[in-house]
Amino acid sequence: MAAMAAKLIGVGVGPGDPDLLTTRAVRTLRAADRVVAPSVAVDAVGRAESVVRQAVPDVRIERLVFDMSGEHSYTDSAAALLPWLDDGEVVAFVTLGDPNVYSTFSSLAAAVVAQRPGLAVETVPGIMAFQDLAARSGTVVLDGSESLALVTALDGAGAVAEAAADPARAVVVYKGGRHLPAVAKALADAGRLDGAVVGELLGLPGQRVGPVAEAADQPATYLATVIVPPANRPPIFSTAPAAVEKMGEGPGGST
Ligand SMILES: C[S@@+](CC[C@H](N)C(=O)[O-])C[C@H]1O[C@@H](n2cnc3c(N)ncnc32)[C@H](O)[C@@H]1O
Repeated sequence: MAAMAAKLIGVGVGPGDPDLLTTRAVRTLRAADRVVAPSVAVDAVGRAESVVRQAVPDVRIERLVFDMSGEHSYTDSAAALLPWLDDGEVVAFVTLGDPNVYSTFSSLAAAVVAQRPGLAVETVPGIMAFQDLAARSGTVVLDGSESLALVTALDGAGAVAEAAADPARAVVVYKGGRHLPAVAKALADAGRLDGAVVGELLGLPGQRVGPVAEAADQPATYLATVIVPPANRPPIFSTAPAAVEKMGEGPGGST
């Protein structure tokens, strides 16, 4: 049984820019007994750790290795946290973007709770990559009664084509970097390529922001996000096209 004060907190650190870490996230990281970051190896600094190092350099960070090459065992990752939680520690796990949207935190927390039923679990929201991209590209994602489909394209553009069929719906595509050419084709087939923007490595070294039409001749990296605004909406900001940088450094890029 975990000690009374023990708590696991998933802390969203935003997409990459250290100044997109919220004040609540900073406060939570400073107050935690232990801050843990996912990493591919004990000697590799992960993206979330890098954000925290820049934003809150005084916080000590432990690495939790996630082997993403094969079947990752969340049970094993969870087991690594148990000694600290059993000692009554507040353990903060940092994750890119928001901890409740496509985050390793939900699987990790479920595996911890399976081994320590009743353990307190909380999350601190983080700014998501698509919000950062909307700001950097001057894209109004939704207005009035428009709706949004957030889809993934890890295995291809099927879900993108389906979501893009409704012209009144905005579409955000996560995990689609590898299939960017197929995503662009699905959008062109649906008449939705105009206004679609892609942001790659937002707030991180190598950041690129620009129209999908100009970037889709080759795959992007895993950390790429696409926004497709609702079709036929007149531009709200007259400066919007100029605000879309042609695959250059984004405004406020701090890396
Ligand atoms: C595992 S999901 C993490 C989502 C994250 N929890 C969020 O709330 O934004 C990974 C996907 O998030 C998007 N993403 C996260 N960080 C990003 C960044 N810095 N630049 C561009 N896309 C990013 C990409 O679509 C990437 O494939």
